[in-house]
Amino acid sequence: MATRTQGRSSTRNSSSNARSGSTRQNKSASEQRSAFSWGEASGPLLGAAIAGAAIGFAANYGRKALMQGMEATVGDWDAILATEHDMALAIFDKMLATDQSQTFKRKILLMKLSHALDKHAHQEEMVVYPALREAGIEVEADQLEQEHGQVKTYLYELNEMGPSASNWLETVREFRVVVSRHAHMEEEEVFPAFKQDLNDQQNARITSLVNRDGFWMA
Ligand SMILES: [Fe+2]
Ligand SMILES: [Fe+2]
Repeated sequence: MATRTQGRSSTRNSSSNARSGSTRQNKSASEQRSAFSWGEASGPLLGAAIAGAAIGFAANYGRKALMQGMEATVGDWDAILATEHDMALAIFDKMLATDQSQTFKRKILLMKLSHALDKHAHQEEMVVYPALREAGIEVEADQLEQEHGQVKTYLYELNEMGPSASNWLETVREFRVVVSRHAHMEEEEVFPAFKQDLNDQQNARITSLVNRDGFWMA
């Protein structure tokens, strides 16, 4: 683009003096344009921005691959989800071990819990619950999904009340009971009943889909 602009300028410069005024105007306009366009000077900057984005993407991709790779070694989809239940309940226990003065720790733990439950709910809502419905286990799938709504309400309430609220611990304790009961229903009733009718191929397919969904949410 810069070469074409220079070529046009030199052609105009060889014309009459009467036109030299308009040439200056054109050149000035051209300079203005180049100051705001992707000229030669912006090349290295643009390159650095692209490289930076690529490095950022690679780092994030690596982190996701590590997180989900670790989960993939756990086994089938139901074992992955059960491990995630245990991880979430462990965060609850850390939260319950805090006191009112540890506001920063409470905030960080709530963020971790939100992320863990969000990723987990996405894997179930996008893969497992639809598969349950396909297998005719609709009532249970709908109940479980409704309970995920309750989970989001607790997260909202904890965020709203703030970490130094007098009822923070009580709310976390109540919330843990809800999640634990929900996890128990999945692990002990719904998932085993569903899994026993799956063939190896169907089971592997659900595991792969849960892993893929978890990768993007990690
Ligand atoms: Fe669930
Ligand atoms: Fe679950």
